[in-house]
Amino acid sequence: MEEERLVQSTINETETEIENVLRPKSMDGYVGQDKVKDNLAVSIAASKMREEALDHVLLYGPAGLGKTTLAHIIANELGTQLKVTSGPAIERAGDLAAILTNLNERDVLFIDEIHRLNHNVEEILYPAMEDFTLDFIIGKGPSAKNVQLPLPKFTLIGATTKAGMLSSPLRDRFGLICRLETYTTEELAEIVTRSAIKLGVEIEPLASVEIAKRSRGTPRIANRLLRRVRDYAMVKGHESLLKSDADGALKMMEIDYLGLDAIDVKLLKSMAEKFGGGPCGLDTLAATINEDANTIEDVYEPYLLQLGFIARSPRGRILLRKGYEHIGLKMPADKAEQYSIFETNENK
Ligand SMILES: Nc1ncnc2c1ncn2[C@@H]1O[C@H](COP(=O)(O)OP(=O)(O)O)[C@@H](O)[C@H]1O
Ligand SMILES: [Mg+2]
Repeated sequence: MEEERLVQSTINETETEIENVLRPKSMDGYVGQDKVKDNLAVSIAASKMREEALDHVLLYGPAGLGKTTLAHIIANELGTQLKVTSGPAIERAGDLAAILTNLNERDVLFIDEIHRLNHNVEEILYPAMEDFTLDFIIGKGPSAKNVQLPLPKFTLIGATTKAGMLSSPLRDRFGLICRLETYTTEELAEIVTRSAIKLGVEIEPLASVEIAKRSRGTPRIANRLLRRVRDYAMVKGHESLLKSDADGALKMMEIDYLGLDAIDVKLLKSMAEKFGGGPCGLDTLAATINEDANTIEDVYEPYLLQLGFIARSPRGRILLRKGYEHIGLKMPADKAEQYSIFETNENK
């Protein structure tokens, strides 16, 4: 892809630093996700009272919803150290063993993308999580010996966008399993307002709401759009960010009132015009709009599925009535009948 896509929920290379600035440091600053926060608050308080390590926590949900942020906040609230790593970064069992033996009692180990751990590494993790021991074998053949080393009692926080790809023995070893949900417009508007304060700019409430509405339920996208709107307002010579700046900037970026960009629209149009509404295979669709199949699946599709614009049928992707309407077309009657079973009550 030639240009960075603005409404993409995954982080891009230049954003790490600014994300750290915008990241809330405490539960109070973490907007929304009330169920998850309530659960965690109870467990954190209890573990502090017992002076024990918190149960292992699994955070799952789409990119940009606040998993990494929450892991940092949990360690902060526990008052312990956080060691950060990721599934693909731990290549060999020995790498994980080294990390584990260097932890202190009650430290938090954060493993991002935990579904990408390789099998040998995962095997080391089971006894470490369950019994706080490091199990390994020394030597080969008949003289091989099982060795067990005690580990400090630590808390593992795993994050994943693909909970379904986690093996069940691994999933079963988490005491707390928290699913993060997409955010409401009100919550996103609050996040935008707080981020503006951190960036040192004033923002009109209506401008926050406008950005929120087009952020696909995702704080990372909201923060990214906010920075673009700020640049736009600055060039216009405005001291605070007005609703008209939000409208103008988003129009310029070709992001519509639902947060869809030109590529989303291209995808919907090609489903309607080239495939008669489908079903069409992912690879064929990808080739038609000149995108990578994985990118379509991980980045574009989730939001279109959530909106009820498209669906996955056993024979391929199909375009639903709301998808047709969004691009100003009417769904053919035969397709409407054929696909009505894919329209859930929610998206009708
Ligand atoms: N609940 C929240 N309240 C405020 N800001 C949030 C919240 N969740 C995420 N963010 C912001 O969105 C950005 C992306 O969050 P992050 O934790 O990196 O997402 P993930 O790890 O799930 O991909 C962070 O920089 C943070 O500022
Ligand atoms: Mg993350």
